[in-house]
Amino acid sequence: MFECSRVYLDTLQSAAKIVINQGGTWSGKTYSILQVLCTHAVQQSNLVITVAGQDIPNLKAGPLRDMERILRSSAWLRSQVTSYNRTERVYEFASGTIMEFNSYDDEQDAKSGKRDYLFVNEANGIPYALFKQLALRVDKQVLIDYNPSAAFWVHELVLTNKELYPSVELLISDHRHNPFISDDMHAQIERLRHENEETWRVYARGLTGKVDGLVLKNVFVCDIIPADARFLAYGIDFGFTNDATGCLEVYLQNGELWVNELIYETGLTNPDISRRFKALGLKTHQEIIADSAEPKSIEELRRLGWYMTPARKGPDSILHGLDILQRYRINVTRRSTHLRAELAKYSWKKDRQGKTLNEPLDAFNHLIDPLRYVALNKLKSAANTQPKSRLPWQQNSSDGLGLGEMM
Ligand SMILES: Nc1ncnc2c1ncn2[C@@H]1O[C@H](COP(=O)(O)OP(=O)(O)O)[C@@H](O)[C@H]1O
Ligand SMILES: [Mg+2]
Repeated sequence: MFECSRVYLDTLQSAAKIVINQGGTWSGKTYSILQVLCTHAVQQSNLVITVAGQDIPNLKAGPLRDMERILRSSAWLRSQVTSYNRTERVYEFASGTIMEFNSYDDEQDAKSGKRDYLFVNEANGIPYALFKQLALRVDKQVLIDYNPSAAFWVHELVLTNKELYPSVELLISDHRHNPFISDDMHAQIERLRHENEETWRVYARGLTGKVDGLVLKNVFVCDIIPADARFLAYGIDFGFTNDATGCLEVYLQNGELWVNELIYETGLTNPDISRRFKALGLKTHQEIIADSAEPKSIEELRRLGWYMTPARKGPDSILHGLDILQRYRINVTRRSTHLRAELAKYSWKKDRQGKTLNEPLDAFNHLIDPLRYVALNKLKSAANTQPKSRLPWQQNSSDGLGLGEMM
């Protein structure tokens, strides 16, 4: 029916009531679990299968996209799907089985409906109370996947409380179990080992860790960018084969940054990027700040009509840009799923002894870099933003500023 990896076989063969697929990045967890669910959907009739995600944008960027890929890969499987309701996100199979993709607002919401199979995608983004309500209403099996960047309710309850959860199997996978990605991609994930061992343990080995030392912590999810926010600029970082091209738009309002992801895609040529800009409604008078290490791409896009500016260079421009960003509250739109994922992983390098270095990872930065470019070019650095009312340390009484009461 389709090509599968070991993650698929192990998951399919598990007889446990709860199958936990813990793993590193790109191990094939989500893809394989969906293949397992498709297998059940064609082999068993009149099932209800629920795929639960933390919100709709994450479902669309994750499981729904993988589901489309799986269907594209198999004409036979496609012939077994009788309909897809895009608004409700429900697939119906010839067997009478339905597969719904849903997110739940709260516990109450999760109390509606029953199902035979439940897949909780990226479970560490879902509150335990909500999981409990969903899992209570499952007849056959619960499947869970996540990157173990910190211990959470799976470790604290599901894997340990034998009374509540008597039948649990833990499967740990990493990118080495996924034969469908390129050698370069494997090498890129392994490279983390030299940058931050803890991050490598989590994302390259799928072992439970504590990813700490995040560079940007003052991050919040918002639904929309406020209408009165002032546009600062677009930022773009050029990728190609393995690295995605990342592009976002940045606004300022009320002293806070508001950011929305626009592009996160591999394999884009400059003419492709230009077409994306047009489709996204970018205007030729709006500034796009780009990686200054790519003058050729900048010039090419300029010739295609876009207002391109190179990001400021200079020693310490990475640290300097991050330093500026750290002084702002950063609001990220909910639909910026890749940016949200990068912000949750982007941490400082560590040396062999685990001591934090004053240098960020060179990974998870395809959208963080463009954000940094906008900060470098458009926001003032700390030196320029001293509060205006601050007086000199040794005030000369003859200054006559009359601001004494403000001290
Ligand atoms: N059985 C498979 N057949 C084809 N491609 C696969 C298969 N398993 C994984 N992949 C590829 O690997 C990528 C990463 O898999 P994914 O399930 O998203 O990883 P994870 O959820 O572990 O981060 C998928 O987007 C897909 O391109
Ligand atoms: Mg996944």
